[in-house]
Amino acid sequence: MVSEKEGVKIGIIGAGFVGSTTAFTVMMNGLASEIVLVDIDQDKAEGEAMDLRHGASFVSPVNIETGGYQECQDADIVIITAGASQEPGETRLDLTKRNVEIFKDMIPKLTAEINSDTLLLVVTNPVDILSYVTWKLSDLPARQVIGSGTVLDSSRFRYILSQRCDIDARNIHGYIIGEHGDSEVPVWSATNIVGVPFEEFDEVCNQKKNNDDKSELISKIKNVAYEIIDRKGATYYAIALAINRIVKGIIRDENSILTLSTLLQGEYGFSDVYLSLPCIINRNGIREILELELSPAEQEALNTSAEVLQDLIGGKLN
Ligand code: LAC
Repeated sequence: MVSEKEGVKIGIIGAGFVGSTTAFTVMMNGLASEIVLVDIDQDKAEGEAMDLRHGASFVSPVNIETGGYQECQDADIVIITAGASQEPGETRLDLTKRNVEIFKDMIPKLTAEINSDTLLLVVTNPVDILSYVTWKLSDLPARQVIGSGTVLDSSRFRYILSQRCDIDARNIHGYIIGEHGDSEVPVWSATNIVGVPFEEFDEVCNQKKNNDDKSELISKIKNVAYEIIDRKGATYYAIALAINRIVKGIIRDENSILTLSTLLQGEYGFSDVYLSLPCIINRNGIREILELELSPAEQEALNTSAEVLQDLIGGKLN
C-alpha cells in the first residue's frame, strides 16, 4: 500500500526501452521522490540512471538509484518490465515459455526483498499470463498484483476514434477488455462521447455520415504494435505513458477506472485467470472490478479471450 509518508519510492525491474522510458516519464511527472532501476546488465542500468540524473534541474527533486532487488525493499510500487520482448512477426503469447521461466526465477527473489504492502505492476508480455504467474509466486493478495493489461489498448482505441470523430481523445470513452493481445475485446456498448453512443455521434455533431467498418477500426488497434515493432523494433512511449497513468492512480489514491489486468474470482463468469476489465484503482491497488452489461457478442469474445489465457497458463507453474 502506498503510505502517506513524504516520498514515493518506485522500483523498475528492467532498464530496457520500456523500463528506462517509464523512469523518464515518471520523473517528468514528478510522481516519485526515488526511482530504483534494476537490470541484469548493471552497466546499462547505471548508464540510464546517469542520463536521467542530469535532467534533475528541470524536474521535481527525485533520486535515481540503481541496484538489485534488495534496493526495492521499501518501494511503494515495483514495475516489472524485464524479460524477452517481441521480435518482428512474434505475438505476445509467443513469449510465454521464455518469460514464464524468467519470472519463475525472478519473482521469488524479488518478493523476498520487498515489503508485504508493496504493489507489483507487471508490464512484461504476455502481461496477463505473467501477472497471474507473479501473483501465484508472490503470495501477495491479488489486489496488489496488477497488470498494465489493456490500458494502452483502450488509449489506442480512444485515439483511433478521436481521429475518426475529430474530437479530443480525452473526451472519448472507450474500453478494450480481455487479453492484452490478439483476442482483446472492444466494448462498443460502453463507448460514447458525452454520453452519446459512438454510432449516433455523427448526427449529434452534424458530421457527414461515414460508413464505419468497426472491425477495420479494431483491427488497426490489434495490429498497430506489430507495425511499430517492424518499423522501430519496439514500442515504449505510449506504454510508458500508460504505466505513468496507472502509477498516478495509485499514488494519488484516485479511485480511477482503468482497464487493468487483474485476477477474476467469479466476475464475468471466470475464475483463476488474469484479464483486463474496468477496475477501480487506488493506493491499495485494485479496489474492485466493475461488471459491465456486455452484449452477447462482447461476452462471447471475452469468453474466448479467457479461454486462450487459461489454456496457456495451465500447468505452467508445476
Ligand atoms: C504494445 C506492447 C506494450 O502493445 O504490448 O505496444
